Amino acid sequence: MEEKLKNLEEEFNAEYQRVVTFKEVECLKVKYLGRKSQLNRLFTQLPTLAGEERGMWGRRLNSLKVKITSLLEEKLKRIDHKEQRVDLTFPSTPLQRGRCHILSTVNEKICSIFENLGFVVIEGKEVEDEWHNFAALNIPLEHPSRDVFDTFYLDLETHNKGKNRTRHLLRSHTSPSQIRVMRQRRPPLAVISPGRVYRPDEVDASHSFMFHQIEGFAVGEDINFSHLKGVLLYFARSFFSPDVHLRFRPHFFPFTEPSAEVDISCIICRGHSRKKSDNKLKVSGQQQRKCSVCKGKGWLEILGCGMIHPKVLAMCGIDFSKYRGFAFGMGVDRIAMLKYGIDDIRLFYENDTRFLEQF
Ligand code: PHE
Repeated sequence: MEEKLKNLEEEFNAEYQRVVTFKEVECLKVKYLGRKSQLNRLFTQLPTLAGEERGMWGRRLNSLKVKITSLLEEKLKRIDHKEQRVDLTFPSTPLQRGRCHILSTVNEKICSIFENLGFVVIEGKEVEDEWHNFAALNIPLEHPSRDVFDTFYLDLETHNKGKNRTRHLLRSHTSPSQIRVMRQRRPPLAVISPGRVYRPDEVDASHSFMFHQIEGFAVGEDINFSHLKGVLLYFARSFFSPDVHLRFRPHFFPFTEPSAEVDISCIICRGHSRKKSDNKLKVSGQQQRKCSVCKGKGWLEILGCGMIHPKVLAMCGIDFSKYRGFAFGMGVDRIAMLKYGIDDIRLFYENDTRFLEQF
């Protein structure tokens, strides 16, 4: 017994010196303290010994067991468990880096072009009331855009109960920002106001119930339509390409007079489609199909604009005999689609990183 115990201890000490890893220590534990270990076998032999001897050997075996246990624990402590369990050579999972959404990038680009011209950015409210969204903009009660099917009203119930409060709504355009700014600040003003707008349109490739607009306006003593044209031409040439042309088509908005819709010459076919009477492009002698972006028209509509209606100025407490202003509003989603050849507005909102990563 004496001999066995001595050998066992020596053997353990020798092996103990050599082990370095977590796994090796675990093996050693099994080998020297496990059920099939020599030590355990010696313990099972105890009952065969005579009374006194049994007690003495029992104590010796126990003290060896305690010694081995504490040595192993000590070693384990010194080993950095984590380091031993992690395979440092294993390739890591690639990190997905975030990036600016294409609509944010386009929005910022557009704003910075106007900022270069001295416009300041002021954000309006997404939850508006009827007065700011319609009435102050000279949009009459019977105007179809005020219908419940064309605007997201928020507190229908209070209204239906006959309470005479102005209804709240999700703004249907950024034009109410004009009202908020003009009522708070005095001219001269040159302001750009980007943000989300909401319309209960059925969602398809070119409609979304939420999209983005940028409103711009300037008010001063001698502001006229040519300022509007100059500012928009500067924008279109900076944003799209230095050789684009603008076309102003007469239009109607209740809050501007005169009003116009503005087109840029098609950035894909450069307006060539429009010059061909049969709407076919001729490139190096070959007949090509109609330009798919402008559908052969040669022009792309990008925004609405006009001179701020005197009634709107008056509604904001601005003396219209002294001050004039121009205003314009453009759809950021549409402009981004034109610039990057995106044919479905839903792509912006589906959060498919395969699409978003391209920009
Ligand atoms: N608010 C108009 C729209 O949403 C755009 C516009 C803004 C037109 C300013 C003229 C002046 O269609």
